[in-house]
Amino acid sequence: MNKIILEVKDLHKIYDNRAHAVKGISFSVFEGEIFGLIGPNGAGKTTTLRMIAGLLKPTKGIILLEGMNVLSDQEKIKSLIGYLPEEAEVYPRLTGMEHIRFYAKLYGQDNIDEMVDYAVRISGLGEKLREKAGAYSKGMKRRLLLAIALMRKPRLAILDEPTSGLDVYASVKVRKLIKEYVKETGSAVILSSHNMLEVEYLCNRVAFIHNGKIITTGSPHELVEKYGVENLEEAFVKALEEQKQ
Ligand SMILES: Nc1ncnc2c1ncn2[C@@H]1O[C@H](COP(=O)(O)OP(=O)(O)O)[C@@H](O)[C@H]1O
Ligand SMILES: [Mg+2]
Repeated sequence: MNKIILEVKDLHKIYDNRAHAVKGISFSVFEGEIFGLIGPNGAGKTTTLRMIAGLLKPTKGIILLEGMNVLSDQEKIKSLIGYLPEEAEVYPRLTGMEHIRFYAKLYGQDNIDEMVDYAVRISGLGEKLREKAGAYSKGMKRRLLLAIALMRKPRLAILDEPTSGLDVYASVKVRKLIKEYVKETGSAVILSSHNMLEVEYLCNRVAFIHNGKIITTGSPHELVEKYGVENLEEAFVKALEEQKQ
């Protein structure tokens, strides 16, 4: 069995003492794994990922990253995490290269050049990095921001809807980047998506999430078998229907 990188136990989030967005979620993510949180808008994916990234305080529950508590060991875990927010944006007037150098200086110490080289390579943007990021396509912006989120080679990359709003071609490029990252580093990725067909390709395991709860967890293949259906989308519908009964 691979080593556990992330352990989430009975996680809850209640916003402003009323909106119960996450209602007792538990799961683990292993080394070398791409784990998908899959569910419709409002299911609680972003809330969960923000708590894992240490940006939002859980109302209840425990989050362990390589055995360290995300809440109390903030400083230690910072360099182990790379977070790509759902609404991440570029600075329009900076070139791609200026973005990369800026973040490398922010994150790095004696390994700045190494981080820059790595981000340049995985972004796949080549000569385009000399241009202002404001002129990039949506897919190019996402690849730049993703390369920056991964430049420290985090043990856990937290990617919130990494392909949302991208066309097919751009989505494929982003998915490839994610897969190659995991293959190269042995790190883990947790990502969210509401595109079930995409995660079927990308994820080793997924958790179906609905109304702040995990309905079921398994590999895409296991879930399709379990519900006796053709694809993950149908498995989600069946899982939901069974739960309502
Ligand atoms: N800052 C907030 N304050 C109050 N409610 C929120 C806040 N952020 C999200 N919510 C609510 O929490 C629920 C889950 O939202 P979210 O985690 O963004 O879901 P998802 O990412 O799966 O679309 C939704 O009902 C949403 O309206
Ligand atoms: Mg979201």
